[in-house]
Amino acid sequence: MKPLQLLTLFLLLAAHAAQAQLTVSQLRCEHLENPVGLDAPAPYLSWQLTAARRNTLQTAYEIRVAGSPEALLKGRKLLWASGKVNSPVSAGVPYGGPALESGQRCFWQVRVWDSHGQVSPWSEPARWQMALLNPQDWKAVWIQPGYAEPAGRPSPMFRTEFQLAKPVRSATLYVTARGLYEAQLNGTRAGDAYLTPGWTAYQHRLAYQTYEVASLLRKGPNAIGVMLGNGWHRGYVGFQDKNDNYGSDISLLLQLEITFTDGSKQLVLSGPGWKSATGEILGSELYNGETQDARLIRQGWSLPGYNDADWSGVQTASFPGQLLVASSNEPIRKQETFAPLRIFKTPAGEQVIDFGQNLVGWVVMQAQGKAGDRITLSHAEVLDKAGNFYTENLRAAKSQDVFILSGSGTETFEPKFTFHGFRYVKVEGYPGELKPESFQAVALYSDMRPTGSFECSNPLLNQLQHNIQWGQKGNFLDVPTDCPQRDERLGWTGDAQVFAATAAYNMDVYAFFAKWLRDLAADQRADGAVPFVVPNVLGTNAMASAGWADAATIIPWNIYVAFGDARMLEQQYASMKAWVEYMRSKSTNHLWNTGFHFGDWLFYRPADDNDGRAAVTDKYLIAQCFYAYSTQLLIKTAAVLGKTGEAEAYSKLLEDIRAAFLREYVTPSGRLVSGTQTAYVLALQFDMLPEDLRAQAAARLADNIRSYSTHLTTGFLGTPYLCHVLTRFGYADLAYELLLQDSYPSWLYPVKMGATTIWERWDGQKPDSSFQTPGMNSFNHYAYGAIGEWMYRAVAGISPDEAEPGYRRIRIRPLPGGKLSYAGGELLSPYGKIRSKWSAEGGRYRLEVEIPANTQASIWIPAPEGAAVLESGLPVGGVRELAVKGREDQALRVDAGSGTYVFTW
Ligand code: BGC
Repeated sequence: MKPLQLLTLFLLLAAHAAQAQLTVSQLRCEHLENPVGLDAPAPYLSWQLTAARRNTLQTAYEIRVAGSPEALLKGRKLLWASGKVNSPVSAGVPYGGPALESGQRCFWQVRVWDSHGQVSPWSEPARWQMALLNPQDWKAVWIQPGYAEPAGRPSPMFRTEFQLAKPVRSATLYVTARGLYEAQLNGTRAGDAYLTPGWTAYQHRLAYQTYEVASLLRKGPNAIGVMLGNGWHRGYVGFQDKNDNYGSDISLLLQLEITFTDGSKQLVLSGPGWKSATGEILGSELYNGETQDARLIRQGWSLPGYNDADWSGVQTASFPGQLLVASSNEPIRKQETFAPLRIFKTPAGEQVIDFGQNLVGWVVMQAQGKAGDRITLSHAEVLDKAGNFYTENLRAAKSQDVFILSGSGTETFEPKFTFHGFRYVKVEGYPGELKPESFQAVALYSDMRPTGSFECSNPLLNQLQHNIQWGQKGNFLDVPTDCPQRDERLGWTGDAQVFAATAAYNMDVYAFFAKWLRDLAADQRADGAVPFVVPNVLGTNAMASAGWADAATIIPWNIYVAFGDARMLEQQYASMKAWVEYMRSKSTNHLWNTGFHFGDWLFYRPADDNDGRAAVTDKYLIAQCFYAYSTQLLIKTAAVLGKTGEAEAYSKLLEDIRAAFLREYVTPSGRLVSGTQTAYVLALQFDMLPEDLRAQAAARLADNIRSYSTHLTTGFLGTPYLCHVLTRFGYADLAYELLLQDSYPSWLYPVKMGATTIWERWDGQKPDSSFQTPGMNSFNHYAYGAIGEWMYRAVAGISPDEAEPGYRRIRIRPLPGGKLSYAGGELLSPYGKIRSKWSAEGGRYRLEVEIPANTQASIWIPAPEGAAVLESGLPVGGVRELAVKGREDQALRVDAGSGTYVFTW
């Protein structure tokens, strides 16, 4: 062969090899990346395929697990070898080896076979580590300060020293607190998790964290120091000016397990013999902020050799009812940082820093001054009409950090046991000029993997998407909260319920919600009532409001559909059923018309309502709709779990609930007793009306919207479904008009007013820049951000298929409209990246779709009847990987395997 021929052949072969490539990556264990500290007995393992060829499905997998990376790579002395298993499952294979032990480290990898007969190489190794699996594994003893606690509750510090006689092979630290903790080993912080141990229904479940700390230890003398804060345990939580919600104590539990290179072990345990003292944190509260006096820093307190002669001993304690659980969701970590956008003086003379984004976290500050100089940082979301610093809407939350200088050169301050919701910071008492480089805002939130993005040709909608995502970032701090700034910050069930589906597009929220739903079930009352807030700090009567309590059914279902893990439904089934049974027990003739309800919270109500424009929806009509919806979800759940009998029994109940709705709330001609958008939206969304009454109901809804000059009037409960219902019944154009409306009330009105997050109220700030009532006016409240789901589903066109959840079957159905020239979204699903992006120019359309390996999709191409639709230039009918299904609902449906497709028409 001539050199040129050889080269061509080589290139051809290389191209073929590249094409033939099948690889496995993105290994996850219990939905987490390389988790340390699991107490699930048979962790679920997942991976993703990347295939160069279209239409690739997994036909088999092989998993191997070993006790060390070396053993794994050699494939010898394996803990578990699954062997080749003929199965399409790539998202959720339970570990099937011998029972795992406390602290056990597992290293694993996987390879797969595909439908083209290829086999992938073994994946890169991943790992997980077990936590303490039996209560008896805990040898540590709870400790508390040994001194009389001064007023103001300064943060206690605990310390101990220990000797290690041999070199360390591995070391694991297990730690939790009644309060918040930060642990240090030999002067270095253990891990990068903040506000640990997080917030759970503490009286039932208290999480502990597990850290790998071998690198922080050394042969010879070592020291541990732990500082605590009041946190959710005994700090002020809730708007009732109440602290000590879970106890007045502040306590630490810590267990360090060290394995030496010779295999022998040593334990270091919290207990008698530890020392306690106070230090620089004079006080910390989640709502009010933290005060640090640098003159009181105990230099070197977590190093060996520190002189603790003036420290007190400790008291030991035991908490019999305390149930320790391994942390099961991503910890709160530091995320984005922000430099000052502007430093300025307000008309009132205040020195203010604008960080440009309403965020949740805190400010790290450098300062240089005299010992005793006192700097106060106050936090605010907005400036008032006159441009002055505005904190009235924080209500009782002071949200102030105070730093007192030691006078020793440049000092850095950063709080530990508080957080603030803010964009602006007022600085008082700062010695010298405020320089931008001395201030940095740090966002903190649960470290969930970002999965979704949305972009289109309208910058206001892009800003809306940004605001929705920041609403999520600001309110997903271990618990989904209503708002992050005022004296509230609670896990309001209604807010979480309306936002959960959108949240599941933006980030991988499986572990986050799985954890919170366990707390929901734990705080559920014996009669099935679900609290207004979870964890519940509002008392056992603050329960059972329609649309709030349904978080018990709606969130598990949404999370199951988005992530495809049926264990979510198993885990929550009893809770879901108990909630439906509660509603049944409060009903007469299947009509649930008793009890307190928030109703369609914050619906449109003009201040001066002389002509009855307020959109009040009967609260019991709403309750009946949610009663039906929760029952419907329970039926679906029972079916997934194979509980056929229960599914049938509840189907009968559902018929009765709907019949009662018709008797009570619908006139013979199909008018609802409340003629509001929310009433029609809920009745249609939840299938409350018989088929023959639906079209007229949808028309009434559309008329109602137009009667408000194309404005929505819905509150928390109607808003999330509004555009979905319009789309489903043929009014997608009207849905777009609502989405693009930018005068109050609308989604874009706040955007036009400069919002960087979602507001609690449609008119938090009025067109004349004055504010809504300070008693309830948060500028970071994700509920109305629930429109995000419609943007992903309808505008970009990406949605899951309930029958094959977790995007194993993908629905691509974009609806070009709204004068957009392009729109698209991406979603990192459990199987990999899904993309749908359309553009329209001069009557020519283009739709790019990406479908990950090991999934299948149905694509509804929104081309008009008779249009010639091409894929990468070829008529769709001639493309091997596509099955043309014909016209459905004004679109051409094609079914596709994995791969990238470019449709034009
Ligand atoms: C919260 C809401 C919550 C509501 C109950 C408010 O204080 O901020 O978002 O759902 O109370 O209606």
